[in-house]
Amino acid sequence: MAKISKIIPLEVLDSRGNPTIYVKTVLEDGSVGVGFVPSGASTGKYETVELRDNDPKRFDGKGVLSAIKNITDIISPAIVGVEFEDFRQVDEKMIQLDGTPNKSKLGGNATLAVSISVADVLAKSKKTEMFAYLAPYFGQSDSYTLPLPYFNILNGGKHAVGSTDFQEFMVVPVKFPNFSGAYRAGTEIYHALGKILLERNYQPLVGDEGGFAPSLFSNEQAMELLMMAIKDAGYTAGEEVFIALDPAASRFFYQNVYQLHRENRTFTGDELIDFYKVWVEKYPIISIEDGLDEDDWKNWQRLTAEIGSHVDTIGDDLYTTNKIRLQTGIAQHASNAILIKPNQIGTLSEAIETINFAKQNNIKYMISHRSGENEDTFIADLAVAAGGGMIKSGAPCRSERTSKYNRIKEIEAMLGDKAKLATRDVSQNTGLQ
Ligand code: PGA
Ligand code: ZN
Repeated sequence: MAKISKIIPLEVLDSRGNPTIYVKTVLEDGSVGVGFVPSGASTGKYETVELRDNDPKRFDGKGVLSAIKNITDIISPAIVGVEFEDFRQVDEKMIQLDGTPNKSKLGGNATLAVSISVADVLAKSKKTEMFAYLAPYFGQSDSYTLPLPYFNILNGGKHAVGSTDFQEFMVVPVKFPNFSGAYRAGTEIYHALGKILLERNYQPLVGDEGGFAPSLFSNEQAMELLMMAIKDAGYTAGEEVFIALDPAASRFFYQNVYQLHRENRTFTGDELIDFYKVWVEKYPIISIEDGLDEDDWKNWQRLTAEIGSHVDTIGDDLYTTNKIRLQTGIAQHASNAILIKPNQIGTLSEAIETINFAKQNNIKYMISHRSGENEDTFIADLAVAAGGGMIKSGAPCRSERTSKYNRIKEIEAMLGDKAKLATRDVSQNTGLQ
């Protein structure tokens, strides 16, 4: 049994320089835990409400003092001094206090900061590493699967104005014996891409997730650059290193059509699927996240039916880590994978529930950062504990991105033989070599 003696929320800055919430939770036994919340730029319509002050005189309206007030005036009085055993009891209490389907009363940012800090303080109190503390919630113990890192080395869309329409071009080092090998390969490819861009006179600017953000004339040019970078770094695309995409299609879906402004093209859902199919044949693509709009269920079904046997079709905006939306997706065979971002749903308990539900239904799951991040490494531990074998935390560049990859390296060193890097069957994802 544990008892919270103090909850201290603070308005701090995220990686974009926007306010976010940091919560410190102190237990009566003196243990201290922390929780940070990240923030999206390319947010899904069905995410929980991120409460902002909308006071134009402070931080351009982006202050979070109202959410912090909810922590101090509503959440704290209900949980400080109350005996509990499990962070899920605190989450349940917050869900009750909020009483809305999308956390619009308290703010998903307020509830998640408290939720993570309470889980953290319990792990600290038990003198356990966070990944080991969380593992039993996923039915895991003792031996672990480390996630394959999905490095977003070329940024576009909402994360890099003036770059590609597609939001994320990721490289995934798959055939490496351990996490450190994959981490090194991803980093070398990242630097090879930097050199290629410099040689071609592009400014070496990076987007919100640390990937390069060159002003290219087409999305396919980004694919060609990735292929070159993999080769220049000394690796073979389609053999050791693969490509993952997050077009974030809801961002370019207007008036029922998909509009790629960089290349002046417009697609119907069917045409966009055919476009992806050509790329899947040509390039070693292992996953496409949000290839279609968040409400375009019918085309999601077709995309998954056509490429889902060997390409992961991952729902991010489509599901927003929401179990009920995932249930709909499963019933309709809309995708074969889900992206997990705890702040889309607002409590750690609900994120865990969605992951376990995905697992029970043979839906793969990838743990993800947000484009507005912070120095916290919680999602690295979550990815190891949940064992889904996939994490995306941006490029191997900028501390808010590398902190997660570095934490997995630390966990790998700590666990030795008890940890194995995830594997993935890529025999059908070779592209046209
Ligand atoms: P976001 O983008 O954090 O800006 O929503 C990440 C993603 O779409 O995966
Ligand atoms: Zn996404």
